[in-house]
Amino acid sequence: MASFLGYGRKTGGEAGGLPLPPPKLRMNHASEKEDEVYCRHAVFLVRAVLAMLEVDSLSKYKRGFDGLAEADILDLGCGTARFLHGLALEGMLPRKFTGVDVQAKHIRWCRDNLSGRGNFHFQHVDVQNDRYNPSGRATIHGQIDPAHHDADFVMIRSVFTHMRTAEAVQTLHEVRNIIAGDGRVYLTVNVAQNAEAWTDRPDGRADGDNLLKVQFNKAYFENMIDEAGFGVSGFAENVENQCAYLLRPV
Ligand SMILES: C[S@@+](CC[C@H](N)C(=O)[O-])C[C@H]1O[C@@H](n2cnc3c(N)ncnc32)[C@H](O)[C@@H]1O
Repeated sequence: MASFLGYGRKTGGEAGGLPLPPPKLRMNHASEKEDEVYCRHAVFLVRAVLAMLEVDSLSKYKRGFDGLAEADILDLGCGTARFLHGLALEGMLPRKFTGVDVQAKHIRWCRDNLSGRGNFHFQHVDVQNDRYNPSGRATIHGQIDPAHHDADFVMIRSVFTHMRTAEAVQTLHEVRNIIAGDGRVYLTVNVAQNAEAWTDRPDGRADGDNLLKVQFNKAYFENMIDEAGFGVSGFAENVENQCAYLLRPV
C-alpha cells in the first residue's frame, strides 16, 4: 500500500534531508516509532501552527516575523526535534532553530545528528521534572543560554501536559522574559472547563505513571498566561489530542 512520503513501515531513515531519530528515543504516540507516522505527525504539527499564525496575521497585533522559514525558533521540550523534522519536510527550514530539553540523551542525539545540518543548536537544561528529569537540580529560571534569547517563535508542544503548577508558572514567566517583544508562543496543554484547577490523569486511571497526562482548569491556566504577561492570539481545541494556544507578549 502506498504510504506517506513512501517510507513504508521501516524506521531510522531520513526525512526532508535530516536524519530521523532512533525509534527508542521517540515519545508521543507509540505509532511514531514508524517513520511514516512520525513524519506525518510532524507535518501535521507544522500545518496546525501555520493555520494559527494565519489567523493571527488578521489581528491588529504586529508580529516580528512572517513565515516560519524567516524565524528564529526556540523549541522548549524539543525531544527528538520532531518540529524541525516537520519544517524540513515542508521545505521551511528556519533561519535559526534552538532545541532545549531536560533529557540529556535526546539533546545528545540532536547535537550529534542535526547540529551540522543548518543553523541548529541544542541545549540541555538540568531542570527538575518529576516525569522526565526527577533528579534535576534547577528551575527553568536563567537556564536558557542568552545566545538563544529573543526568539521570534517559541514552540512548547506537549510539555505543560507533564508539569505541576509551579513549573508551568515558572516556564511561562521565563519564556516571557526571553522572547522577542513581537514574538509568538505556540503551546499545547490539556485544559477543561468545570474541572479541578490541576489534575494528573483526569481520566482517573492513575497507575503510578507520574505526570503522564496533566489537565488544568481552562480559566486557571488562562490566568497564568495573563499573569506571565501574555495575551491569547489563538486557541484550537484539538491538535494531536491536546488544546493549543498561540500567545503574544503584552
Ligand atoms: C511528550 S515530549 C514532547 C516532545 C516534543 N515537543 C514533541 O512534540 O515531539 C515532552 C518533552 O518535554 C521535555 N521537558 C519536560 N519538562 C521540561 C522543561 N521544564 N524544560 C524543557 N524540556 C522539558 C521532556 O524531556 C520531553 O522531551
